[in-house]
Amino acid sequence: MSFDFFDNPIEMVDTWLKEAKASETSDYNAAALSTLSINGKPQVRMVLIKSFNEDGATFFTNLESQKGQALLYNNFASICFHWKSLKKQIRVEGEVKLISDELADKYFETRSRASQIGAWASSQSKKLENRQDLLDKVKSIEEKFQDDRVRRPSFWSGFCLSPNLIEFWKEGDSRLHDRIEFTKTGKKWNHSLLYP
Ligand SMILES: Cc1cc2nc3c(=O)[nH]c(=O)nc-3n(C[C@H](O)[C@H](O)[C@H](O)COP(=O)(O)O)c2cc1C
Repeated sequence: MSFDFFDNPIEMVDTWLKEAKASETSDYNAAALSTLSINGKPQVRMVLIKSFNEDGATFFTNLESQKGQALLYNNFASICFHWKSLKKQIRVEGEVKLISDELADKYFETRSRASQIGAWASSQSKKLENRQDLLDKVKSIEEKFQDDRVRRPSFWSGFCLSPNLIEFWKEGDSRLHDRIEFTKTGKKWNHSLLYP
């Protein structure tokens, strides 16, 4: 084995994320999020994982977007981190749940005012006739809130992906990569090595 592994994969994710934070030039917490459309077609896009702990991996989005609608319809999802600088990958599978309004409000408040206004102005994933329409919408939202604080739109929140599978991959020589897969039964994690 060319990497140390932990009995608890959540601690291992934490360690790898810290390493990625120190070595990636940007967005060390970016992961590809895969969902299934209502028609059962796989769809993938990047999101920022804002926390990863015993509860799961949390990301934020517009609930009326393609991914939001997909997840509200079918809550099975997977995410995949890849760090070029580390030659490492983590795959996670599980079920997502909407986070509480309280947690979503708390995170929304940490965002810049411009991002808060952007959340209101963007009908994420809907067709946009021209960019000016978006800029006009931003302007009208700015006017609407003027000197007030921008409250979180009800259509914008977070999902938490609670993992039942976490796989760690590290590049090895001659393509003899290291892979270790953790699966959860009840509260217990079991692990096995996988052929590369
Ligand atoms: C590095 C990176 C991070 C991103 N993070 C988020 C995110 O946290 N939330 C989000 O809604 N979109 C994020 N996006 C944009 C999405 O990839 C996507 O374009 C958008 O959410 C619309 O996806 P959908 O139509 O499948 O819902 C990110 C894009 C990149 C490249």
